[in-house]
Amino acid sequence: MKERETFASRLGFVLISAGCAIGLGNVWRFPYIVGQYGGAAFVLIYLAFLVVMGLPIMAMEFAVGRASRKSVIVSFQQLEPKGSKWHWYGWFGMAGNYLLMMFYTTIAGWLLLYFCKMVLGRFEGLDTAGVADAYGQMVATPGIQLLFMAIVVVLGMLVCSRGLQNGVEKINKAMMLCLLALLVVLAVRAVTLPGAIEGLKFYLVPNFHNLMYDGEGNFRLFRAIYDAMGQAFFTLSLGIGAMAIFGSYIGKERRLFGEAISVGILDTCVAFISGLIIFPSAFAFGVQPDAGPNLIFVTLPNVFNAMPGGRLWGAMFFVFLFFAALSTVTAVFENILACWMDKWAISRRKAVLANLVLIFLLSLPCLLGNNLWSGVKVLGMGIMDLEDFLVSNNLLPLGSVVYLLFCCVSDKYGWGYENFLKEANQGEGARFPGKLRVYFTFVLPVIVLIIFFMGYWDKFAPKG
Ligand code: PHE
Repeated sequence: MKERETFASRLGFVLISAGCAIGLGNVWRFPYIVGQYGGAAFVLIYLAFLVVMGLPIMAMEFAVGRASRKSVIVSFQQLEPKGSKWHWYGWFGMAGNYLLMMFYTTIAGWLLLYFCKMVLGRFEGLDTAGVADAYGQMVATPGIQLLFMAIVVVLGMLVCSRGLQNGVEKINKAMMLCLLALLVVLAVRAVTLPGAIEGLKFYLVPNFHNLMYDGEGNFRLFRAIYDAMGQAFFTLSLGIGAMAIFGSYIGKERRLFGEAISVGILDTCVAFISGLIIFPSAFAFGVQPDAGPNLIFVTLPNVFNAMPGGRLWGAMFFVFLFFAALSTVTAVFENILACWMDKWAISRRKAVLANLVLIFLLSLPCLLGNNLWSGVKVLGMGIMDLEDFLVSNNLLPLGSVVYLLFCCVSDKYGWGYENFLKEANQGEGARFPGKLRVYFTFVLPVIVLIIFFMGYWDKFAPKG
């Protein structure tokens, strides 16, 4: 049998895992949710989730990957006791990766398109209504989105087709280093804009009132907590084996909790600094910071229009966003390909060709959902929202509970806590807080489930 590929360096592993984590969740979702929930007050709740929930679960995913040396589709099978059913989750995990890509490729395509538009100066001279119109037109036109979505799928698969070390590791590493450099340059530009201080205040001074009440004075603290938890899962890529796969490509030199901390810190820094770019710019040019999901597409081009040298800054900003998205796309593609290679023992080449077509086709409903199929609504959601809801609000939290329980129950029922600890603590670096077993086994899953059901209640309960 062919030996499993491994990363060439530890830096490669950390940057690729960070590349998977750092994506639209950091540069698009984080700033807009923070904007809606009163800035730093929300960030505090999010950070709490990161520490008490995100990092331990990430270490568990890495451990399952490293011990099994397999992707999500077969990893449970390798470690579970005979006769148990954990491996069923493999299919859900794999489905989660596809579902995520089904809308991610479209948004990544928008980012690339916006980059091109910036370079070509297509926003110059447009007023606020003009910029909003341009966005509306893009979303209403399937052709152009199709082209850019296809470019994203092809680019991602091209990277993966070159193999783990030469493709995913080399290219994502370069992309991440570029991204970090761009991040710093853009942040320095943004915070030194005249008028930036108001934006910094909005972002960094906690406003507990906005956290607890919406614009109409309705109490919404629970919703905020729910969103903070969802954000932690989403941004750290937890619950569907997207992180576990990278655990399967590393040696035993480092303890896994320490590696999770490094990835978590990188991820959080990028999200935090994205806010430092967006809020000061928005305030400096009198643009609404709480515009919601449209923030980066409808609001920010106005900022660049008003900024001296805005075409250049805008182009840099959208490359930055695009790299963040593309590094996630390639990482998730790698996971999907590994699933195919592990499960059906086919070559990387064949897996690439099959998935190139498959992911392109699967991305169509989301893309069409904004125009030709805009009438399609399920549970009151359009196609993109539905896909996002299925992954972010269901598979990620429930999948995380699966990983949690799999690692924390005894080896009669799951992998076994002792086995997990042994794997996680091999090598050097920060140890997993093994004494907290009761918390991980009984408290954490319950917290996740309560918040999970609360989210459903909030979303679907009859309003009155
Ligand atoms: N973490 C990614 C982001 O922030 C999204 C993601 C979620 C990737 C789950 C893989 C798995 O954009």
